[in-house]
Amino acid sequence: MKNTTIATALSLIALASPFANAYQKGDIIVRAGVASVQPNDSVTGTLKTLNGAVKSNTQLGLTASYMLSDKVGIELLAATPFKHDITSNGNKIGSTKQLPPTLSLQYYPMDAKSALQPYVGLGVNYTAFFEEKSTLGDLKLDNSWGVSAQLGADYAISEHVVLNAAMWYIDIDTKAKLGSANIGTVSVDPWVYMVGVGYKF
Ligand code: NI
Repeated sequence: MKNTTIATALSLIALASPFANAYQKGDIIVRAGVASVQPNDSVTGTLKTLNGAVKSNTQLGLTASYMLSDKVGIELLAATPFKHDITSNGNKIGSTKQLPPTLSLQYYPMDAKSALQPYVGLGVNYTAFFEEKSTLGDLKLDNSWGVSAQLGADYAISEHVVLNAAMWYIDIDTKAKLGSANIGTVSVDPWVYMVGVGYKF
């Protein structure tokens, strides 16, 4: 995510008028925004020899939280499919699409009604890779299970509408094959940033 996007979001948050908000058991908060997956990647094997890398991508992100109690929620992160370029020594040699649904248990620490409701989350991620393409041959990436950690905040601007910013660190590792040959492991391990708006039901 561009720093200017984050700066714009933060200034929007700073300018908005305070509106007391407190989540309660049974609340559902649905959020939509711009989600950017920024790999913190490393590779092994043949991919390391090729100096392989995975590039960032930005899509529409959606999250929905259900409050199990006034302070604990469960959240699902979804998005339109991300498409990442794959490079060797900086030159594009392929691409892959992926969907990284992530289920997080969230804690909202604020006691009183507050316009700002920060939260932390810990979760599990499943990443499905598909439509892998490469100029080198028949590329296949295994799907990945991993843990995720999250920080976020909602800022109420009306009784039902919040501004939202959230980030996740997700452990995504995949084995890469070219035809039947194992060409190494890709640790994508991205930071995911999302800025958007939400609606509290
Ligand atoms: Ni990893």
